[in-house]
Amino acid sequence: MIVLGIESSCDETGVGVVRWTPGDGDTPGFATMLADEVASSVDEHARFGGVVPEIASRAHLEAIVPTMRRAREAAGIDRPDAIAVTIGPGLAGALLVGVAAAKAYALAWDVPLYAMNHLGGHVAVDTLEHGPMPECVALLVSGGHTHLLHVTDLAEPIVELGTTVDDAAGEAFDKVARLLDLGFPGGPALDRAACAGDPGAIAFPRGMTGPRDSRHDFSFSGVKTAVARYVEKCGRDGAEVPVADVAASFQEAVADVLTMKAVRACGDLGVDTLVLGGGATANSRIRSLAQERCDSAGIELRVPKPRLCTDNGVMIATLGAHVIGGGAEPSPLTVASDPAMSV
Ligand code: KG4
Ligand code: ZN
Repeated sequence: MIVLGIESSCDETGVGVVRWTPGDGDTPGFATMLADEVASSVDEHARFGGVVPEIASRAHLEAIVPTMRRAREAAGIDRPDAIAVTIGPGLAGALLVGVAAAKAYALAWDVPLYAMNHLGGHVAVDTLEHGPMPECVALLVSGGHTHLLHVTDLAEPIVELGTTVDDAAGEAFDKVARLLDLGFPGGPALDRAACAGDPGAIAFPRGMTGPRDSRHDFSFSGVKTAVARYVEKCGRDGAEVPVADVAASFQEAVADVLTMKAVRACGDLGVDTLVLGGGATANSRIRSLAQERCDSAGIELRVPKPRLCTDNGVMIATLGAHVIGGGAEPSPLTVASDPAMSV
């Protein structure tokens, strides 16, 4: 079975293709990547300092047909056996483009359509590199989401353990990078700036880590405000902002909370695999601290390569293949996108 996945929830138009090999009694089924084509409008948003929904939607409209063509060529297929599409969560106008395209192709090719949750795709994509997924905790961190999930089987609903009560982690990186004049997208720039800084230089707050705070939820607005206050104080004192130290200390605070809560959730649930996903897991400190803490807790850490961590279509095709392989019914062609979809 060949599954084509379409992703358009933010600023990447992704079309991916996988082949599904069904399992037998002893071995689980698995997906193999045949194509992974992505067109990004990230450069068009740079001068606004953040993703502009209207620009993203228009870029998807322009990119969807050429990206579909490239993916089919790369996979060497004329048409797939099924189409999987992200219906949420994400930007309303951006999702509409992918969902409308998926319906049109499904109708024209007479192939079934399957509605997918974007977050599940971020988890499922790891199987392309690391094989079938055992029961695990997944930590998704990107510009749009920060979620701690409990995954028992990719064909079954995923349980959300916690999420952010305010900013997403990647969004906090982007906002702090803007405060420090590091450009957009700010996450990678801040990561680079932090290399030259001292992570212990400034004690920024670790949000939601008090004894009465939720164990699995996150908050990043406090640390972001603390950085803003620190930068303002430097201005008032006529002192130069120690950019590298601020970046390193902020990054340390965020990485500390994310990895502490993820590893603790594994302990709470008695699972010994942690999967990272989302664009911000490209962050060097989040990766290294997650590895250190998993090693000392005896947890296996699975992190897809950066190309698969950011939004793409092959993650949706992979999730689709697992869901279809698990026996799910197709979605009706009337299925609607759901910008606020939960897991
Ligand atoms: O998954 P993604 O490509 O798109 C969504 O937001 O869904 O993630 C992009 C986010 C941006 O906020 C970007 O700044 C952040 O991931 N990011 C990073 C790094 N690379 C990307 N944040 C921190 N450190 C990085 N190295
Ligand atoms: Zn995403």
